[in-house]
Amino acid sequence: MENKNFITIRDWSSDALNEMLALADAVKDNPSKYADTLQRKALAMIFEKPSLRTRVSFDVGIQQLGGFSLYLTQHEINLGQRESVSDVAHNLERMVQGIMVRTFSHSVVEDIAKYASIPVINGLTDFCHPCQAMADYMTIREVKKTTRGVKIAYIGDGNNVAHSLIYGAVRFGSALYIASPSGYEPDPEVVRWAKENAGETGSRIEILQDPFLAADEADVIYTDVWTSMGAESEAARRREAFRSFQVNDAVVSRAKSDYVFMHCLPAHRGEEVSGSVIDSEHSIVFQQAENRLHAQKAVMITLMG
Ligand code: CP
Ligand code: NVA
Repeated sequence: MENKNFITIRDWSSDALNEMLALADAVKDNPSKYADTLQRKALAMIFEKPSLRTRVSFDVGIQQLGGFSLYLTQHEINLGQRESVSDVAHNLERMVQGIMVRTFSHSVVEDIAKYASIPVINGLTDFCHPCQAMADYMTIREVKKTTRGVKIAYIGDGNNVAHSLIYGAVRFGSALYIASPSGYEPDPEVVRWAKENAGETGSRIEILQDPFLAADEADVIYTDVWTSMGAESEAARRREAFRSFQVNDAVVSRAKSDYVFMHCLPAHRGEEVSGSVIDSEHSIVFQQAENRLHAQKAVMITLMG
């Protein structure tokens, strides 16, 4: 194992990530074989933002592996206010075997990982969402039989989900075309790193401003909310800026005839995606959501097993 933590996809090699996806497939195929893998191990889950999929999949996931979880909200632990981040880390490492954190600032997860001697898993920060990307590439591989050379069009905000998809494209060899409105592009440092390392797996990263161009001949069309958790005060301004970036029938008509539609969820029909697309037969959003469970089991087994 090259890393005690799962904080960004970038920290992990292609080989290690492919091994994790293979494990996720194996766990999905035969869950009972893994029923005792994390017997009596405890995962502390710190949530400073709401969640459906991440909470349920980690909670059910660790129980199905023989362990259990503790759900800790900001209301209970008040990270950094009631108690310093390092003290929280040093307490938890004495009582549990892993920590999952969903928070705002990415540096909080890095700090917990620095202070705690036990594995730390990023359950979403403002910067990235690596567990989501693992489930996403697992799903792409299931449907398209490979991640290599698959053309993914990500249309929308250059946010946490976009950043993890970019890192994943480099590690899994996909071609990722991102179309965002001006001012909402992905972090230039993430893009710079991705372009520099794209050759490693034959991946390709392109940043565009035209959703139609991004969608051209795409195998996968992906979008996410226009306003992420924590940015609610910008919602009106963002609705305006993203108006011509909705994934709708006109946009997907540019994709391959067997394209699939993906969304990390939660989705807002009529904003980033039309109902006609997300509820169409091309949509695999619930298969993608289910794969959070299997992918996260693989992450937990790799780190905590
Ligand atoms: N996709 C995702 O992380 O969903 P939740 O915010 O509901 O956990
Ligand atoms: N970009 C979204 C993802 C939610 C899973 C957010 O951060 O709110």
